[in-house]
Amino acid sequence: MTARSHPSIAKAIDVADVRFALPDLAKAEAFLIDFGFAVERSDDRLIARGAHGNIAYLAEASDDDEARFAGFSFAATSANEIEALADELDAETRENGQGLSVSLIDPDGFSVRALNPEHTPGPKAPPVGRNESGTRTRTRSRLAVPKGPSQVLRLGHVVLQVTDFESSLAWYQDRFGLLMSDRVLGPDGKTTVGAFLRCDRGEEVTDHHSLFLMQSPGGVAKIEHAAFEVADFDSLMAGADHLKAQGYEQEWGIGRHLLGAHIFDYWRDPFGFTLEHWTDGDLIDSSDPEGTHDLMALLGSQWGPPHAMLGGGK
Ligand SMILES: [Fe+2]
Repeated sequence: MTARSHPSIAKAIDVADVRFALPDLAKAEAFLIDFGFAVERSDDRLIARGAHGNIAYLAEASDDDEARFAGFSFAATSANEIEALADELDAETRENGQGLSVSLIDPDGFSVRALNPEHTPGPKAPPVGRNESGTRTRTRSRLAVPKGPSQVLRLGHVVLQVTDFESSLAWYQDRFGLLMSDRVLGPDGKTTVGAFLRCDRGEEVTDHHSLFLMQSPGGVAKIEHAAFEVADFDSLMAGADHLKAQGYEQEWGIGRHLLGAHIFDYWRDPFGFTLEHWTDGDLIDSSDPEGTHDLMALLGSQWGPPHAMLGGGK
């Protein structure tokens, strides 16, 4: 199949971190540790890292009592790409401890940073193999799943509700070269209301989506959720037990999505934001064709409890 690409100033290779402003960083820290991060906190700042030491979540103390989504970051392959974005868009580069970055503002006012990270996470192999159809890789080794939080590896995708879908789609594709993996049509069967967008890594496979944009039904721009990859299925299940035991609110799960096919588990943080644990998603390259689906495919699952809009969840 022929590789596809979208003409753009830079090519994002992944998402790197999400950022929030929160009224209570101690409360945030307690949740994020239970969610599976390694957390460092001062009076006004919190940094949450994945298993490889990579920064995946940042929070600042809010100057009022409000909890706000503050933005997210893409990773780019080189400092040259960051410079190109800065030159083309008349923005300034910064060296901020995570690497060279440039901050942009998207059409809804979200802060979107492009970052050439000094530290890039890779998928961590599970400590033991699996004995499933066709693969029997755990032999002479007894499985013992550790109890406690999931092992969070990295930020995997961000889902935004946007006020003008087509403007936001063009904005992200023109700057970061994102490719359409699957489009979701609205109730009229013609208008695109959602886009699963993946990074263009050429022949190298990447997550089915790093960003999902959807037309906000209420016309309000907001983060819908941020999703973090965990080490494997056992880690996801053990983490769910742990969060439940700590009294946190599960929003939807555990199931396997239709689009992207990842196993999902959605949780509410203490401030009402939704954070997802996921594992075992589809990996595709730039030559994979685009799909078109209805809203039922977006909300449906291959197995697991139904979405709240289909009569399940909370
Ligand atoms: Fe998700």
